[in-house]
Amino acid sequence: MLILGIESSCDETAAAVVEDGLRIRSSIVSSQVSTHAIYGGVVPELASRMHLEAIDPVVDQALDQAGVSLDDIDGIAATQGPGLIGALLVGFSYAKALAWARDLPLAGVNHLEAHICSLQLLENSPDFPFIALVVSGGHTNIYHVKGPGQFTLMGQTRDDAAGEAFDKVAKMMGLSYPGGPAIEALAKQGDPETIKFPRSMIKKNNFDFSFSGLKSAVHRYLHENSDTGAEINEDKLAHVAAGFQMAAIDVLSTKLIAAAKEKNCTAIGVAGGVSANRTFVDDLRKRAERHQMKVFSPPLSLCGDNAAMIAARGWEMIQNKQVCSLGDDVYSRVKSVVGATG
Ligand code: KG4
Ligand code: ZN
Repeated sequence: MLILGIESSCDETAAAVVEDGLRIRSSIVSSQVSTHAIYGGVVPELASRMHLEAIDPVVDQALDQAGVSLDDIDGIAATQGPGLIGALLVGFSYAKALAWARDLPLAGVNHLEAHICSLQLLENSPDFPFIALVVSGGHTNIYHVKGPGQFTLMGQTRDDAAGEAFDKVAKMMGLSYPGGPAIEALAKQGDPETIKFPRSMIKKNNFDFSFSGLKSAVHRYLHENSDTGAEINEDKLAHVAAGFQMAAIDVLSTKLIAAAKEKNCTAIGVAGGVSANRTFVDDLRKRAERHQMKVFSPPLSLCGDNAAMIAARGWEMIQNKQVCSLGDDVYSRVKSVVGATG
């Protein structure tokens, strides 16, 4: 079964063709990052317009690269939410029109569930049940994944998402957008132990996170150390980046191991933009080994937003007859109730 996946929830227009929910036949991502970078973050109106321009060529390219035409496609999957409403509307409306014109089933995919499904696209994917972290610019959620489509939210951030903290701290330090890769690169030249930043909620007996205190601590440090008018020198900035990154990683890794212990899982999967951070994945892997647990992380091409993961989740939904009607609409956020998806 061939599914055409479409993603447009934020600043990437993506399309992919995936076979039987497992084999990626093509995956095209058109990124708007360089356009938004000059504003230091995603500008929603600009994002919608750019999705409109990109969607048609991106879908054509995905079909071409897979060596198929629309006649070969058995179902359509598009991100329905959460995300930017204007951006979501472009991809979801496009998918609705295509599904209607071709009389194909349409799955309205939850973007966070799709990030978890990026783990199922790995050659060596985790066996159920496993613990999954979706960690991006908008979310930091821990799930217990009992089977295909069975996601139970165990905890989430109470304020900033981890990726958001990376982006905001990078901005304070005058680094480029998106901040995650910039901080990770600078941190390689610093010592994570020189400046100790707070690990919020690390000792709390739950799986929630808070990153705004860490962000404020970095802000305070930068402010106090440049009070004299002297610029903070580059070596010190590298220590700040390394100290901040290690504080964030420490909390993420600690909570993931605790969640796996609580649910008796030996597999932990990480997905979403921040899972591109190799320092984080290496740290988690070392800790997991000590507990006879295994860590699964997608390749860089599947860490960030892409449509292959949308098609993978859509395939499961279409198999289960969880399909949309033309009257269904996009949604910007999911209810933040622990125990439900999203
Ligand atoms: O999943 P994603 O592409 O988009 C959504 O937010 O849904 O994630 C983007 C986020 C940004 O906050 C970016 O700074 C972060 O992922 N990110 C990283 C790294 N690469 C991307 N954070 C830390 N380290 C990285 N290497
Ligand atoms: Zn995402």
